[in-house]
Amino acid sequence: MQYADLLIENHGKVVVIRLNRPKAMNALNDNMMNELGDALYKFDADPSVNVIVLTGSEKVFAAGADIAAMANYTYADTYPGNYIGRNWEHILNVRKPVIGVVAGYALGGGCELAMMCDMLIAADSAKFGQPEIKVGVTPGAGGTQRLPRTIGKYKAMDMLLTCRMIDAAEAERNGLVSRVFPADKVMEEALAIANSIAGMSVSVAMAIKDSVNRAFETTLTEGVRYERRYFHAGFGTEAQKEGMSAFLEKRAPNFEGK
Ligand code: HXC
Repeated sequence: MQYADLLIENHGKVVVIRLNRPKAMNALNDNMMNELGDALYKFDADPSVNVIVLTGSEKVFAAGADIAAMANYTYADTYPGNYIGRNWEHILNVRKPVIGVVAGYALGGGCELAMMCDMLIAADSAKFGQPEIKVGVTPGAGGTQRLPRTIGKYKAMDMLLTCRMIDAAEAERNGLVSRVFPADKVMEEALAIANSIAGMSVSVAMAIKDSVNRAFETTLTEGVRYERRYFHAGFGTEAQKEGMSAFLEKRAPNFEGK
């Protein structure tokens, strides 16, 4: 399927979704978010895809929600129709790993969308910020919630209250990104990481994602019980038989279809 505001590339068992509104710095409007939801659900259900990469261009991941589109909205245009809530969080329902790759700006809703990914790979050109206060609103897609849980209250307050952007090195120091690569190498490196995950058992990768996300929604004791259920269930899978046999036979595992 062709999308107006997204580009899709296939790399083996990895699919790359590119946000693509270059004239508006990839500002995230309703159409793009509807298309993103459609693409994410489609690839999550596609057995030929194990890992999804979400990225923008070399210059910008996304400069936020589309200010031009929302500037004249009233409360009645937002609350009753659930603006943002209606189409921004499909990514949270995706069960396969989603790797965000950020080059250039990830601002406002762009930073919030990046924080909904499971891993974040940054180019050294990346800049993260939550400048909503400058346009007279609070964040609306989890910025005040995911940022403090990720980088801590005091670093988060600094970004949210002062609009200060942080670069890739600071983001990595603060735990906001998983790894940083030179801008001209970042996609190649991200695809290598994505392909290495895609070569594992997709069901184990999905269980790990589910367990890690559970850590943010429950107590430690309940989270560990949750993880242990997956661990025990693993002994009923072909992935466990293949992985452990391969280790003992000193060969590479083949998790194809497992
Ligand atoms: C609509 C945007 C936009 C945005 C950029 N553009 N960001 N349009 N919504 N969020 C448009 C500009 O209007 C301009 O259009 C074109 O993209 C190029 O932008 P420039 O500003 O000319 O480029 P540059 O000088 O390189 O500056 C880049 C920038 C700046 C630093 C990213 O554009 C910027 O500060 N953007 C806004 C960032 C922001 O405030 N984000 C938070 C939005 S609120 P024309 O037609 O003039 O060429 C938000 C709420 C989230 O995200 C809550 C719910 C999710």
